[in-house]
Amino acid sequence: AVEETLVLVKPDGVARNLTGAILARIEAKGYSLVDIRLVQPDRSVLAAHYAEHEGKPFYEPLVEFMLSGPIVAIRVAGDRVIEGFRSLAGTTDPTTAAPGTIRGDFGRDWGLKVQQNLVHGSDSPESAARELALWFK
Ligand code: CMP
Repeated sequence: AVEETLVLVKPDGVARNLTGAILARIEAKGYSLVDIRLVQPDRSVLAAHYAEHEGKPFYEPLVEFMLSGPIVAIRVAGDRVIEGFRSLAGTTDPTTAAPGTIRGDFGRDWGLKVQQNLVHGSDSPESAARELALWFK
């Protein structure tokens, strides 16, 4: 079934000028870009977005990292795109993410307190609906 997902190009991806390369992979896979915006989110958006991680050791560094520069938010549509984009992104840790994935090809560990892993993709239909409402008000 056709789904929609939220993709974020995180501040490291924008700063490294990888937005175009990331968009190219989404488009080459055959997914559709429905909406896109460059955002400088405030803390409340990030607190809502990452509510499930509150209290974890990487939570504060994660929020600080996400506040460190502009983010590109993209509404992407396609059949099974939620799972499909996560497959394009690769696993959370960019050091061991498989080559061929966004994180595997472009990411690595920078020795910081948070995984700067270039992209976010919603992990379920429920998350996608919640996150899209948050980033595309
Ligand atoms: P994402 O999956 O978009 O959402 C949670 C983020 O927290 C994740 O990307 C990483 O950026 C970060 N993260 C998750 N697990 C860890 C961890 N163990 N250490 C540091 N950062 C993490």
